Order: sequence, then structure tokens, then C-alpha cells
Amino acid sequence: MNAPLLVPPQALKRAGPLWLLAEVTYRCPLHCAFCYNPVDFAQAGPELSTEDWLKVIRQARALGAAQFGISGGEPLVRDDIEILVAEARQLGFYTNLITSGVGLTEARLAALKEAGLDHIQLSFQDATKEANDLITNTRTFELKRKVAAMTKAAGYPTVINCVLHRTNIDHLDRIIEMAVEIGAEYLELANTQYHGWAFLNRQSLMPTEAQLAEAEAVTERWKAKLGKKMRILFVTPDYQTKKPKKCMNGWGEVFLSITPDGLALPCHTARMLPGLEFPDVREHDIDWIWHESPLFNRFRGTAWLPETCQSCEDKEKDHGGCRCQAFMLTGDAGATDPVCPKSPDHALIEKALAEAERPTLVKPLVFRDPKNSVKLGRAF
Ligand code: FES
Repeated sequence: MNAPLLVPPQALKRAGPLWLLAEVTYRCPLHCAFCYNPVDFAQAGPELSTEDWLKVIRQARALGAAQFGISGGEPLVRDDIEILVAEARQLGFYTNLITSGVGLTEARLAALKEAGLDHIQLSFQDATKEANDLITNTRTFELKRKVAAMTKAAGYPTVINCVLHRTNIDHLDRIIEMAVEIGAEYLELANTQYHGWAFLNRQSLMPTEAQLAEAEAVTERWKAKLGKKMRILFVTPDYQTKKPKKCMNGWGEVFLSITPDGLALPCHTARMLPGLEFPDVREHDIDWIWHESPLFNRFRGTAWLPETCQSCEDKEKDHGGCRCQAFMLTGDAGATDPVCPKSPDHALIEKALAEAERPTLVKPLVFRDPKNSVKLGRAF
């Protein structure tokens, strides 16, 4: 008789996160009205120390995480980014910095390169100074152009991200032209997703169906023209896709985000979800957080799905959509994402889309700003 096959218990353990995102700060010199950061960010606790971050990086790497992203806010307002990059790099992480470019001096860039930084993603908000500076409520356009030239000269591929919305989507031709002038190798055109500040400003930011269709056509023309010279990724807004997405590739499947004040989250925006306890990296290690914590297990897999999704043939593909979106629209994070046409709440999406077609409803933008955050946080 064959001996029973012995499988070590650790072999049965779920894989660790692949991507660790360190949102090192909520401080930011820009005031973008489409920011996904929490509206009440000004009420977050004190930022993690350098030592806290180093501990998180080591623990995540020990679980097998391979990519280390640093974002914020604007990460460069902290002066220890080079230390974090150096540690992550020597542990074998692929490292990338997501930045507005503000604070990236020649000296800082040289130090980051020395530390081993692999990749920089630079955000632009529009193709002209006026439009860029209007939506960010700052004067940063010229500086971004300089930073793009500087990172190129330092040997980094030029990777640009531009968030699209109602007020810049008609400038897409010019935005792509600008990326070509800058010599970008990669351009991400990410339509606004309505979380955080963007949700507050939804009526003013959501493009009409015609604007979106035109933007897609413009993108396709440029793709055909540029071929492999510049890769362009066009990310459609969830509301307008007509299909829910498997958000973050599944809750607790590959992505681990840490907030500036040390909360571990399965996505960028989950800290607004009510009734959940968010594990603090100063109190728990990443192994426990990922495998054992109630938060990371709450919406993992498909067993928890509501009835609408349980009987759907697409449930393994979409896991019922985005939990944060479901909460913001219905008040229930466990509901089917209303983006899905089968959701009992799909009329909420149709209403938002209908409003986007009626420009009379467009409201003044609420800019991401600590004062606005304190004011709104009280009502949050
Ligand atoms: Fe939180 Fe989609 S953004 S689950």
C-alpha cells in the first residue's frame, strides 16, 4: 500500500500578495478634484515612521511580494523615499514611484537612481498649462515638463499617466501629441473612477457618452499611427463599461495597500467601508493580516457573494464587481456592484449616466484640500 502523500501545511497556504503599494503620505501639493484619496484624509493618524515602513517591506517580501509601489498623496514630500527604495531593491522588489513630479529635483533623482529605483510614473493632468493648473488648483505644468525631460535624461522610460474626465477628455488629441513630444514610451489614459474626491465631483467630471466614444476613437487612431513607438492604455470608466470588473483582481488576491497611518487594505479606498476593522501594521504582521485578518477574508473569493451573483455564470470572472463602488452607491459593501446590468440597483448607474448628458447639472468642483477635508470629514 502506498504511503499517504504528506503535504506540508505551508504548501496549502494561499499565496502572499504580489503587489505592495505604500501610500506613504496623504500630503500633496496638488489639489486634484478627481483624487481617489479619502475625503476625510485630514483626520488620518500620524504617518508611519521609516522603521515602520522598512518592517512592512521586509514582511511583504518574505511573503513573496514582487512589486513595490510608492504613492500618496505626493510621496516626495517625505525625505526617506530613497531609504525605502534601497531596502526594497536589495530585497529583490521591482520598485516604482508614482509621482506628480513636484519635489523631484536633479539631486533627488540621482539619489533614487543610486538607491535602485526601477520605474517612475509621472502624472499630467492636461496638455496645456491653463487646463493642467486649473484642475490641480496649482501652477505645476511647466515643472512637470521639466521633470519628464530630467527622468528621460537619467535613462528612465517615460511613463505618463493622465486621468481623463469631462473637462479634459476633449483635449485628448493634444494630450497624446504632448506625450509624443515628450518622448513617452507609455501613456496611460485612465478615465476617472468615482471614489473619494472624484465621487464628490462626479456630476462635474463624468463625460457624456459622445465624449467617451470620441476619446476612444482618437485613442485608436493614435495607436494605429504610433504602433510600438508608444504604448497607449485607455481605461474605460466603470460606470460606462456595462460590465462589473474583478476589482484589484479580486479582494485579497494579489494587492496589498498600506495607508500613510498604517492600515492594511485590499484596495486603495476600502478604509471608508463601515463595519470593518482595518488591521494596523504596527500591531500585526503582514503574514497575519494577509492570511488571517477578518478584513482580508471578508470579500475574498466568491462564497460571500449575494444571490444575484451566486447564480451568475460570470461570478468567477468579476467576483460581483467593486466593493467600494457598491458601498458608495447603495450603502452596502456586500451588494452586487450596480455597474452590473443584473444588479437590482443598476438604475443608480443609469441615473448618473443620464445626469452626465445634462450639462445644466454640472456643479462647481470641490478641490482636494485639507480644509475641505476637515469640513467634509465631519459630515462623513
Ligand atoms: Fe475597493 Fe474596488 S476600489 S474594492
